[in-house]
Amino acid sequence: MARRDSIMTKPKDSKGTFKRLLRFLGPFRYMILFVAILSILSNLLSLWGPNLAGAAINEAAAGMGRVNFERVYAYALRMLICYVSASLLTIIINITMVRISKRVAFRMRQSVFEKLMRLPVGFFDQNQAGDIISRVSYDIDVISTCMSTDIVSILTSVVTVIGSLFMMISISLPLSAVALITIPASVLYTAKMRKITQPRFVKRSKSYGTMNGFVEEMLSGQKTILAYAYEDTVDKRFDDINNGAANAYYDADSIGVTIGPTMGFINNICLSLIAFFGSILYMNHAITLGSISSFVLYSRKFSGPINEVANIINELFSALAAAERVFNLLDQEEELSDLPDAQHLTDVNGNVSLDHVAFGYTPEQTIIHDLSLNAQAGKLIAIVGPTGAGKTTIINLLMRFYDVDSGEIRVDGKNIRHLTRRSLRSAYEMVLQDTWVFRGTIFENIAYGRENATMDEVVAAAKAAHIHPFIMRLPDGYETIVAEDGGNISKGQKQLLTIARAMLASSQDNSCMLILDEATSNVDTSTERAIQSAMRDLMRDKTCFVIAHRLSTIQNADLILVLNHGDVVEQGTHASLMASKGFYYNLYRAQFE
Ligand SMILES: Nc1ncnc2c1ncn2[C@@H]1O[C@H](COP(=O)(O)OP(=O)(O)O)[C@@H](O)[C@H]1O
Ligand SMILES: [Mg+2]
Repeated sequence: MARRDSIMTKPKDSKGTFKRLLRFLGPFRYMILFVAILSILSNLLSLWGPNLAGAAINEAAAGMGRVNFERVYAYALRMLICYVSASLLTIIINITMVRISKRVAFRMRQSVFEKLMRLPVGFFDQNQAGDIISRVSYDIDVISTCMSTDIVSILTSVVTVIGSLFMMISISLPLSAVALITIPASVLYTAKMRKITQPRFVKRSKSYGTMNGFVEEMLSGQKTILAYAYEDTVDKRFDDINNGAANAYYDADSIGVTIGPTMGFINNICLSLIAFFGSILYMNHAITLGSISSFVLYSRKFSGPINEVANIINELFSALAAAERVFNLLDQEEELSDLPDAQHLTDVNGNVSLDHVAFGYTPEQTIIHDLSLNAQAGKLIAIVGPTGAGKTTIINLLMRFYDVDSGEIRVDGKNIRHLTRRSLRSAYEMVLQDTWVFRGTIFENIAYGRENATMDEVVAAAKAAHIHPFIMRLPDGYETIVAEDGGNISKGQKQLLTIARAMLASSQDNSCMLILDEATSNVDTSTERAIQSAMRDLMRDKTCFVIAHRLSTIQNADLILVLNHGDVVEQGTHASLMASKGFYYNLYRAQFE
């Protein structure tokens, strides 16, 4: 996806992006100056080469039978020294530039990652993970590659073009005029070709993106495709897309590959002209053989960068487009900082109250209309309701992943807007429906959030969460590595793992509120029942917000909120709700009869 945006598409604000990119180069300005000087030096050295070659030829030609080889060798030696030192300098330059560009890439990745840590939850809800990842990896790579090669190319081109032109003119003005005749032709030609190829390249990269997207989709939905026996359809769709891509590639590249030979042709015409007029000049004794040969070499040097200009410009533009995407991420609004007079939440009792809360993820759609509730310290509040009723949304508000649009949420009577987010969040313990495991051992995954936990403590937590026997059956027990996506353990086992994690954390810290958002939704009923007592331990003395699909698990709640379309349609205890025979009664009956 990222490729589609960054390849060959023009950045919207090239100037501004360029300036910002320069700022990243700021710390390396002396190194770049050093590179610039070396590069001028190296180019001057290699520019001197053809001159020496010409002198050597003149020397040989002048001898006519009795050549002074010593002097010819001397020229040859000087040429060798010139070219060798030019190459050495170029190596130093290239290594320095690679170093600089990798440092820049490092700093960019660092800034992007730090930025990601400061972005609000809403950003991640709205942006595809793949797209964010591609900015950190692919786009920054494009920028860095461009820096390591193109800066030097531009410097070299400028020095070479000016230097060769100077040398050509100093050798022979009339011959230079002849050589320059073809320049407008090549410039016009490349400009015209660029115009033709640009849209074709855009189309090419778009079709590339479409193809990538499709493959991505296929990989993630592979089981579903098999289950619906959709292979043939998917196959056919891919054929179409693949065909489109192949055509787009052909359209772009078939033109692209004609540019080189055509430029070669123009250059050869130039050479023929030089040879023709050069020999006329030679016959009139206006130029020496050696000078003609130096001139030819200079004219080749001169036209090289001119042919390259189009490529370099393309690369620069795609790097700028990539940089723009990275900067765009860096410019995202961060989670609002805490109010200047924000209080640090300490000595929490755990009284949570919501007062006429209204909230919507977007201004157009209000999810929670007018929610009030009072959760006293140590009570168990259950939130039930159909999917999409807004249960998780309430949790998002309690944790201040999002701020309420109107109304107030208070903890111990303090408006949570006036508290630091960190202290508020650390007052909660949380187990979510979307379990999160990271690449690391089972031990590390359970001990997450509680540094220096001992093996005994981890095992105790795992036992309480009824995951210990399973862990013992794994090849390396507690040292078994869990993959990032937890592919090697089941969803339910992952949930048990995160429950063990919460149990371990809560056995020590002083969080006194607990959130369980369908924490056992993937666990079978008998395991769920087995861990009930451990769960109750986890909940003891805490204000608990429990969202559960299985109503059997929340019958002993102190207060049950029944949510539908973001509104509390009923509330009360299990007994009172059953007695009133309303929404809850029907939900309950649907599950048990
Ligand atoms: N990040 C989001 N952006 C926009 N809408 C959202 C977002 N998250 C949830 N919603 C919408 O809010 C409503 C409530 O969702 P949620 O609170 O997750 O329901 P549930 O009761 O199943 O937990 C749904 O209609 C859902 O589409
Ligand atoms: Mg939910």
